[in-house]
Amino acid sequence: MSLTQKIIFTLNGKPVQADAQVTASALELLRGAFELGGTKLACGEGECGACTIIVDGRSRNSCLLPAVDLDGREVLTVEGLWSEDGIDPVQQAFIDEGAIQCGFCTPGMIMQTKYLLSKNPRMTPEEIERGLEGNVCRCTGYKKIISAVAAASAVAAE
Ligand code: FES
Ligand code: FES
Repeated sequence: MSLTQKIIFTLNGKPVQADAQVTASALELLRGAFELGGTKLACGEGECGACTIIVDGRSRNSCLLPAVDLDGREVLTVEGLWSEDGIDPVQQAFIDEGAIQCGFCTPGMIMQTKYLLSKNPRMTPEEIERGLEGNVCRCTGYKKIISAVAAASAVAAE
């Protein structure tokens, strides 16, 4: 028997509700009930950052966060970055800098960057490297990712 709990929260700017399994992670809920596949499952252990989302303004590894803990929160996933103006400047910076290969880490990198810029729009290269320490990429070697975040930081600081 699986126990569920009704939760109500704000998802990408819209009020939503769900019957969350008490054993499920936020990642499972977002990818399952809400079909938001941008948030990736890689390690499932809080080590890689592929599942990064923003909850009440803080970046969180959604694979470690219980789904029921989303109750009453403001949740932002990579899908929520789209607006009528188009894609987010951070997404554009990743495209412009060619900071994507397989793309599996990219949503997590972008969400972590959004969080970092919300705290500090003028990041130094050292602050960028430290801020992305929890986000792993198997493909790019990080150089272009760091360039993309620096470019996004330059835009954010304007
Ligand atoms: S899948 Fe969540 S940190 Fe790796
Ligand atoms: S682009 Fe492939 S894991 Fe980062």
